Amino acid sequence: MKFIKKITRRGFIKKAIITLASLELLYVFVNLLNKGSEAKEATHLFNAGDTDLFEHGKLYPFSNERFYLSRLTDGGFLAISTKCTHLGCTVQFKNKDNKFICPCHASAFNKFGEVLAPPATRALDILPITIANNKVMIDLNKPQKRLKHNSSQITYA
Ligand code: FES
Repeated sequence: MKFIKKITRRGFIKKAIITLASLELLYVFVNLLNKGSEAKEATHLFNAGDTDLFEHGKLYPFSNERFYLSRLTDGGFLAISTKCTHLGCTVQFKNKDNKFICPCHASAFNKFGEVLAPPATRALDILPITIANNKVMIDLNKPQKRLKHNSSQITYA
């Protein structure tokens, strides 16, 4: 009873306003966190086409989607991002040199995306591939960083 007597009407209103404002801030903060995690998890599957369209040992550019689809000699697939791992310029594959070259600072990468010449220090990112109903589906929203190429990065039909 002593406690109730000490709270004035003005004090009660002040505490209620502070509590409501705190709850409002908490609500906004939680919503921001949820939106961030949803964006990270969102997939954007791009249908590159039927597996049969891609000849073994050839590289196919998808310029608008910023990747090359490589059909390896053993039939595996590798989707290589064209975003340079130095500062993000767009690399291009030069057939006569058999390598990716960055026009900005001349980094070079082999046909698997591994660094041949600096300033880039790590391999080009790869994009996850799923093969469903004979279609090669590329997830454009989940580039995977890597230092070098290895066979576990290849997808087979
Ligand atoms: S952005 Fe490609 S080498 Fe610098």
